[in-house]
Amino acid sequence: MVDYKLLLDEAKEARKNSYSPFSGFAVGAALLAKDGRIFRGCNLESAVFSPSLCAERVALAKALSEGVTGFSALAVVGAKAEEEPSEPCYPCGVCRQVLSEHVKLREFEIVVEEDGEPKVCTLAELLPSAFEFEK
Ligand code: THU
Repeated sequence: MVDYKLLLDEAKEARKNSYSPFSGFAVGAALLAKDGRIFRGCNLESAVFSPSLCAERVALAKALSEGVTGFSALAVVGAKAEEEPSEPCYPCGVCRQVLSEHVKLREFEIVVEEDGEPKVCTLAELLPSAFEFEK
């Protein structure tokens, strides 16, 4: 049973480390591995823009580079840096695709916050007709 509120709190903690001076939009993510570990990520921008990293892929890269595979859920929060998140913040299309390559699409849950409560859907719902590469 996933503790969605805890996962959102972890994403909010991660968001505090966002480096987003160019967009002014701070994002935090918390990725729950099946072994129970939580990997935090925040967006990290660059003055040359294209190397900028989304919070979700930072969290995923941390986990994968530690040899962790098998994930249950990802919480995301985002808002202008000087504001508290109040609207749901969903992963961008690039992150949806990258995540889809490391999780079970129809089981993996995306958690956002709406009206102070967790709102949960599957990655398959956010990425219908996904490109699935036969490995
Ligand atoms: N961003 C994320 O970190 N995750 C998303 O899913 C959407 C966008 C970041 C990228 C950039 O640093 C800032 O938010 C504004 O787009």
